[in-house]
Amino acid sequence: MPVSSAPGKVYLFGEHAVVYGEPAIPCAIDRRARVRVRRREDDRTRITAPDLGLQGLTVEYGDGLESDVELEPPATAIGQLFGYVDMALDVARSIAEVPTHGFDVRIESDLPLGGGLGSSAAVTVATIDAATRALDVPLSPPEVADHGYNTEYTVQDGNASRADTFCSAIGGAVRVEGDDCRSVASAPLSFAVGFDGGAGDTAALVAGVRDLKETYDFAAATVSAIGGLVRAGQMALAEGDRAELGRLMNVNHGLLHALGVSAGSLDQMVWAARSAGANGAKLTGAGGGGCIVTLGAADAVTTALQACQSCEEAFRTSLDTDGIRAEGSL
Ligand code: MEV
Repeated sequence: MPVSSAPGKVYLFGEHAVVYGEPAIPCAIDRRARVRVRRREDDRTRITAPDLGLQGLTVEYGDGLESDVELEPPATAIGQLFGYVDMALDVARSIAEVPTHGFDVRIESDLPLGGGLGSSAAVTVATIDAATRALDVPLSPPEVADHGYNTEYTVQDGNASRADTFCSAIGGAVRVEGDDCRSVASAPLSFAVGFDGGAGDTAALVAGVRDLKETYDFAAATVSAIGGLVRAGQMALAEGDRAELGRLMNVNHGLLHALGVSAGSLDQMVWAARSAGANGAKLTGAGGGGCIVTLGAADAVTTALQACQSCEEAFRTSLDTDGIRAEGSL
């Protein structure tokens, strides 16, 4: 019964702009989603996620029954997560040429859903990896990344880049520009994360930026300015210049704010962290609520985040060089 895990991620730079072909640099972190997949003898699928929602969630369905599925609580982020898992299982079925095969799936995750730490990408690639192994058609991590991207692209109605799924499948710091995805060298990095307890709707936020970009030249220029900033950030990463990395993270937050994807709760945490001496602080991921990330995780910064009114949880994390991993049990 295969169990696969995959890391979440923070964006040093470049979320949103990456959807339009600009480069981005996300980094895998040492918080993971774990997925266990068991083949069933029938064509039914049962997905259990005991640590999502207040009392955990289980959903079971068979051929043609999708429209009968009701989720309690009917949270968008939870509903979307089941959408990713359902499609990831279809990918495995199609590769193994067993179109109606049923599965029992169990998901556990350290990553807040929709909080900007790449929870859906981690669950998606871990599910594809575990399900293809369960059907004896194992894939390499780049192949899983590729199928993971197609899954996100479909579930998010075309509003997705390769960044989240590639980073989660491969691990470490990566640079994604259009279809060009590669690992980049990085010194060990530590981060503090502040989480406001909320979630953003990635597809809606990406669609909002697209709309702004198509309506206003300043928004299109902001997207290309983020691309320029990422190129400068890549040099700072290669040189290990933390002061420059932090400065550019701060600018990146300002540009994301201009594109309308920040939130009062995120801005409050960003400023609390900066006032406590953080080198750099920005929202991470789609925004709208969720998490901010700071470069470095000094005690003063995590303490300031914990004391911040809009912060529900603050924690330290670090760059994880592992991507998808086979685990012993779940
Ligand atoms: C979401 O984690 C990152 C976005 O850039 C969307 C994407 O790249 O697919 C907002």
